[in-house]
Amino acid sequence: TPLVGLVGWRGMVGSVLMQRMQDEGDFALIEPVFFSTSNAGGPAPAMAKNEKKLYSADDVDALKRCDIIITCQGGDYTKEIYPKIRATGWKGHWIDAASALRMVDESVIILDPVNRPVIDSAIAKGGNLWVGGNCTVSLMLMAMGGLFREGMIEWVSAMTYQAASGAGAQNMRELLSQMGALHDAVKAELADPASAILDIDRKVAETMRSANFPKKNFRNTALAGSLIPWIDVPVEHGQTKEEWKGGSECNKILGNAPFRSAGSIPIDGLCVRIGAMRCHSQGLTIKLKKDVPLSDIEGILAGANDWVKVVPNDRETTERDLTPAAVTGTLTVPVGRLHKLAMGPDYLGAFTVGDQLLWGAAEPLRRMLRILLE
Ligand code: HSE
Repeated sequence: TPLVGLVGWRGMVGSVLMQRMQDEGDFALIEPVFFSTSNAGGPAPAMAKNEKKLYSADDVDALKRCDIIITCQGGDYTKEIYPKIRATGWKGHWIDAASALRMVDESVIILDPVNRPVIDSAIAKGGNLWVGGNCTVSLMLMAMGGLFREGMIEWVSAMTYQAASGAGAQNMRELLSQMGALHDAVKAELADPASAILDIDRKVAETMRSANFPKKNFRNTALAGSLIPWIDVPVEHGQTKEEWKGGSECNKILGNAPFRSAGSIPIDGLCVRIGAMRCHSQGLTIKLKKDVPLSDIEGILAGANDWVKVVPNDRETTERDLTPAAVTGTLTVPVGRLHKLAMGPDYLGAFTVGDQLLWGAAEPLRRMLRILLE
């Protein structure tokens, strides 16, 4: 039974991963070894078999006993420990949720329903570094994988509506605190049907601009009742890093030439934080290489993997199935609002929603583990 080291399993992504591994029976196939940054020597969680105590996450000797290591501990941990463990000559598989090693040559960004051939060819060549993609990128490819696979896409513009969870657990809490503070500010007026809506609105605006509004995790910016059109640090060309990842990671996942070089697909857009909990949504403009009938497009999208679901472009179905409220906590990736745009018959509009903690983070990691165990 392979020894599988688990690091960062207590955090938000790690907890989702543990739950999914239990749901899918992954622990039956492995001997888990649990690592901790704070409680080494303490008891391992209930899934432990023979390795019943926690090892220190910095203990390279303990780590290198593992055949496979899965980490959700974050980029700083990866940057510190990965070079150290490789320096010992360790040849095991490192599966990582953090972005730190995504763009190094020796890594593969894993999203097997979309790029299993890229993964298989790396395995055949002795690859041992597997990194989960950015959530927005993975969710877009889960939705649109069919059109990419068929080589039908000339370029994509992605306008995103990203949930608080992408910024972290504290941000999810802060979003709810903001919602509560706004409601508290106008509770009395809301209870009175005769109160004036513009008075309510003025109080809400004053509250979200006030100094004691809970907003320190969002860099002093209100999200509830508002939005934030900037995610992550600035990079070149006026892009944010989140926007840059769209082009660079998508092309790497697909095995294309590097973003912005000949042979890559231009993918760009604006990434926006909105007040959803854990589902990222995206409005897509897709330039097709040629005019293809909409019914063919729907068939190609729906057939690409087991989780994508084409939502008919009507009001009732869209309201029911194509929202964060409908999708949250599920592996289904609906894509809808499919129609040809006014720019011409080779311009496709689409909207997609996905749970950023599942396909956007945890699920590709545990699926990579299963591929390595095959
Ligand atoms: N960077 C993403 C976000 C989450 O901020 O929503 C991690 O992929």
